Amino acid sequence: MKLLVCGGAGFIGSNFVRQRIAEHGDAVTVLDKLTYAGREENLADVRDAPGFAFVHAGIEDADAVADAIAGADAVVNFAAETHVDRSIAAPDAFITTHALGTFMLLEAARERGARYLQVSTDEVYGSIERGSFTEESPLLPSSPYSASKAGADLLVASYHHTYGLESLICRGSNNYGPYQYPEKLIPLMILNALHGDPLPVYGDGGQVRNWIHVEDFARGIGHVLAHGAPGETYNVGGPDEAVNIDVVRRIIALTGAPEDLIEYVADRPGHDRRYSLGSEKVRALGWEPRVRFDEGLERTVEWYRDNRDWWAPIRSGDYRAYYERQYGRSLGR
Ligand SMILES: NC(=O)c1ccc[n+]([C@@H]2O[C@H](COP(=O)([O-])OP(=O)(O)OC[C@H]3O[C@@H](n4cnc5c(N)ncnc54)[C@H](O)[C@@H]3O)[C@@H](O)[C@H]2O)c1
Repeated sequence: MKLLVCGGAGFIGSNFVRQRIAEHGDAVTVLDKLTYAGREENLADVRDAPGFAFVHAGIEDADAVADAIAGADAVVNFAAETHVDRSIAAPDAFITTHALGTFMLLEAARERGARYLQVSTDEVYGSIERGSFTEESPLLPSSPYSASKAGADLLVASYHHTYGLESLICRGSNNYGPYQYPEKLIPLMILNALHGDPLPVYGDGGQVRNWIHVEDFARGIGHVLAHGAPGETYNVGGPDEAVNIDVVRRIIALTGAPEDLIEYVADRPGHDRRYSLGSEKVRALGWEPRVRFDEGLERTVEWYRDNRDWWAPIRSGDYRAYYERQYGRSLGR
């Protein structure tokens, strides 16, 4: 299969590309704007694979998208601004990429007659105290991030209803695993723990998340691309829920860091308390997660421990300034 993978230089996209090349022999073109979160280093081990190409452009650039989509059977769109804290501080890029960018991609896919898969998030449903969201649950997003992702989902669905585009939506729960930018909870805590830096926990740390290993989510996306019904949405949730403070404690245990590194900080405005996805619909298609949280977390800690060359340039670059703005203190060396 020939795929155009947008946002393929980021965390989930690069894991997806690696999996498609290794397990399916796909020819992949990655189109990525290389924002702070996108890095060509994430694709270093697939750069020389047959049929691989990289295009440095934004999905909102209609000409670049028209060139990149030539010959593609399907488009998978990961391209997004993904950090909720950044969407609160500066929402502009979220609107450009999610609204305008998704529109440009949909137009190109329609023109080409390509299948289209939009990668989305459980955050579009908002917070849920008990039970789990199904694909029929109302969209009640809380942040500029999740609201603009929800808007993109609605636009994608409209292209199926109006133009018959073979579009699909995959809503994932919280991903973790290798190549995740260290602003997100798990890599943030792992790297700070390995450096003896304080571990900043929002509010009381009682937020609950449904964790999915990135390899399982990538496999779920591939499965929906192959077997999903056009026009449908599929929730792809992980096998385990965990309370944030427990995740931090497990990381402390796995890294051997002292418990007194935990530092409670002011909560994120509008912070959702619990996310939970029911994934029966995608399970009925024949997908199920393979990695339990305990095993996946241990492997993730090992990966960060073993891949200093990957994270050292990030921790010594612009990320330091972001961290200072966000937490009002500097990172140690
Ligand atoms: N990380 C999670 O826990 C999670 C969970 C569910 C769904 N998702 C969704 O999965 C997708 C990928 O998330 P991620 O965690 O890998 O994000 P990421 O921030 O690691 O990567 C995003 C990638 O998109 C690229 N990008 C940003 N704006 C672009 C634009 N305008 N044009 C082209 N490329 C652009 C970036 O350079 C980067 O490579 C997103 O759509 C996100 O909403 C993420």
